[in-house]
Amino acid sequence: MKIWAHRGCSQNYPENTLTSFEKAMNIEGISGIELDIQLTNDGELVVIHDEKVDRTTDGIGFVRDFSLSELKTLHIRTGEERAEHIPTMREVLDLLKSRMFNGLKLNIELKNSVYHYPGMEEKIVKLVAEYGLQEQIVYSSFYPNSLLKVHELEPAAKLGVLNGALSNCLFMALGIEDLLKLERGSIALHPSGNGLDIPADMVSGRTVRVWFGGHLYPSKPTGGRMDFERFENAGVTDVFINEPEVYL
Ligand code: G3P
Ligand code: CA
Repeated sequence: MKIWAHRGCSQNYPENTLTSFEKAMNIEGISGIELDIQLTNDGELVVIHDEKVDRTTDGIGFVRDFSLSELKTLHIRTGEERAEHIPTMREVLDLLKSRMFNGLKLNIELKNSVYHYPGMEEKIVKLVAEYGLQEQIVYSSFYPNSLLKVHELEPAAKLGVLNGALSNCLFMALGIEDLLKLERGSIALHPSGNGLDIPADMVSGRTVRVWFGGHLYPSKPTGGRMDFERFENAGVTDVFINEPEVYL
């Protein structure tokens, strides 16, 4: 089972921060890191999960209504004196690039199913190319049109379709593979860990990466442990988890 850090080490550190990514990149045996991107009103790619800043910072409002310099004045709720700010995608690549050149993968989730953020795909594909990190990236989205756009811009890009249910992921992946004349199994499936609703043999030979909601910093860890054997039997190949440090 390949283990990825979901929004970085997001159970014990604030999600999608340079701290959460730094903790994750230093875990021996970790396969990759997952993060979420949104776009500011002056066209900067920033790493934050929600469309609004309210939950994770001391600000109020939509990311798309802030300029980058305005967004940078907000403080992430760390529970500590040390200030932390919403990182740009460039800052994250600067932090991770050396580990990525040594095999660490990065799943960039384009958070564009609510607001489609015109131009987001061009910006992220161009930025990744500038760093020469194309091989290490998996692009995912709940918005399939966005994946088609990424493919158009970067035909070799690795793609993952996101949905709550594995059956829906498979349905969409088959559609995209047909449309783009790609080999069967070339699109990865990214269902919720609670949405494994079809038998393993239907996804045999495919990459199936599951994710989980909840248990984010600063909520208290439950001490619960995942049953990887059950996931493996269900055809899962990778897990995105908030607390990878306890499994590796
Ligand atoms: O990319 C997998 C997972 O992160 C999708 O759900 O809400 O945690 O971004 P969410
Ligand atoms: Ca995500």
